[in-house]
Amino acid sequence: MASTQGAAQVLVASNRGPVSYTGQQDGSLVARRGGGGLVSGLSAIGSDADALWVCAALSDGDREAVRRGVGEPGVRMLDIPADVHADAYNGIANSVLWFVHHMLYQTPLEPVFDAEFRRQWASYQAYNRAFAEALAQEAAEGAAVVVQDYHLALAPRMLRQLRPDLRIGHFSHTPWAPPDYFRLLPDDIAAELLAGILGADRAAFLTRRWADAFTDCCHAVLGPGIPSGTRVGVHGLGADADFLRGRAHEPDVAERMTALRTEIGAGRRAIVRVDRTELSKNIVRGLLAYRQLLADRPEWRERVVHVAFAYPSRQDLAVYRDYTAAVQRVAEEINAEYGTAGWTPVLLHVEDDFARSLAAYRLADVALVNPIRDGMNLVAKEVPVVSDEGCVLVLSREAGAYEELGADAITVNPYDIGGTADALHRALTLPADERAERTKRLIAAATALPPAQWFLDQLHALQAGQAG
Ligand code: F6P
Repeated sequence: MASTQGAAQVLVASNRGPVSYTGQQDGSLVARRGGGGLVSGLSAIGSDADALWVCAALSDGDREAVRRGVGEPGVRMLDIPADVHADAYNGIANSVLWFVHHMLYQTPLEPVFDAEFRRQWASYQAYNRAFAEALAQEAAEGAAVVVQDYHLALAPRMLRQLRPDLRIGHFSHTPWAPPDYFRLLPDDIAAELLAGILGADRAAFLTRRWADAFTDCCHAVLGPGIPSGTRVGVHGLGADADFLRGRAHEPDVAERMTALRTEIGAGRRAIVRVDRTELSKNIVRGLLAYRQLLADRPEWRERVVHVAFAYPSRQDLAVYRDYTAAVQRVAEEINAEYGTAGWTPVLLHVEDDFARSLAAYRLADVALVNPIRDGMNLVAKEVPVVSDEGCVLVLSREAGAYEELGADAITVNPYDIGGTADALHRALTLPADERAERTKRLIAAATALPPAQWFLDQLHALQAGQAG
C-alpha cells in the first residue's frame, strides 16, 4: 500500500475536468464550469461526501491556476508536462484509440505504429501513471474510484498496484471495437490496454454491445479472458430532462430562437443536428444525404432548412481540422447549388453556443444523428426532450442510443447516403399523430437513466461488487 493516503471516499478521474481557467489581460484567472453528464452525475454525491475529481490541466490558464494554487473545492488538476499531455491526448488517445474504437481507419487514413508511436506511448503511460499516483495519494482507505474513458485505460492497473485496498471502476464512454479491428493495434499494446482496464474491479460500458466487444477482445488477446476479480457492467446514460427543460426556457435561448426562426424562414421545416466536429459524427455524409434529398425530391426545395451546428474539437490535430474544413466546404457547395435569394438550404454554425443549440432543439422538426459509431450520443436523447412540437429522430443503428431509442426512431446505416436521404424524407412526411406518439416514447426512454442515477448506480455496483 502507498505510504501516504488521503481523505476522499469517492474519486472520479478523467482527462477533462469540470472547470477550466482563462488568463485575463490584468493577470487574473477566470474560471468556467462545464456541463455534461459527469458534472451533473457527481453532484448527486452531495458536498459532504468527501468526493474528489482528479483531472488534467488542459490549457495555459489551467496550468497557471495549478501553479498559483487556485482551484475549486473537490477538484484536483494535475499539471502534467504539456508535451507529455499532447502526446497522450492528441497522439495516442485521439489519433489512435479514438480511431480504433470508432473503427475510423480507412485508406488513406491508416494506422502508423512506428518509433514516433512508441515515443508517444511512453507519454501515454506517464500520463496514466500521474493519475494513478495522484489518486493513490488522495483516496481514503477502501475508497471508491471511478476512472473515465480511453485516455485512462492504464490507470486502473497502476492504481491497483499502488493501492490494493481501493474499489476501482473504469467507465468507457466510447464504443469498444470488436476483436478483428482491435487487433490492428500492436499485440503488446492491445494486451497492455486490456490488462490496464482489467486492473479495475469493474469495467463498465454504455451498452451491452460495447461490453460484449470488450469481453471478446479479452478472450482474443489475453487467452484466459476476464479474470475472476473483474466484473463487466453496463450503465446507459440518459438526458438530464429537468436541467435541459429549465435551461431551454431561459431568456437567452428565447432570443436565439427568434434569430434562428428568421434565418430558417416562416413555414419551413427544420432538420437539426448538433455535434462536435469530428469524424465519427459523420457530418459530411449527413450533408450529402440532405443534398440528395434536395436533388431527388425537388418538392422540398425552399420548404426545408438543414440547421447544422458543428463545433470544432481537437483542432490541434490535422485530421480533425481537415474534417472541419470538409464540413464547411460541403455546406457551402449545397448553398451555392440550391440556395435562392430567400432561402439558405444549410445553416451551418461553428461557434460553440449552448443556448443556440437549445434553441435549435426547441425548433427541430427532425433530428439527424447519424454517427459511424458512437458510445451513446446524448443529442439523440436531448432533442426529443426539449423540442417544442415533438420531433422525428433519424438515428444511426451504430449509435449506442439505438439500443434504447431504435424502436421509435427512423434508423439508418450511416454509410448509406441514399438511405439517409430517404429516411429524412420519411421523417419530414410522418403524420403528426405518429410523430407525437413516437416523441412521447422517445422521451420516456431518453430520460430513464438521468446522469445522477447513472453515476450512483455505478458507484453502488462497484461498492457491492456487482456485474451487469
Ligand atoms: O465520447 C468520449 C468523450 O470522452 C466524451 O466523454 C466527451 O464528451 C468527449 O469524448 C470529449 O472529447 P474532448 O475532451 O476531446 O473534447
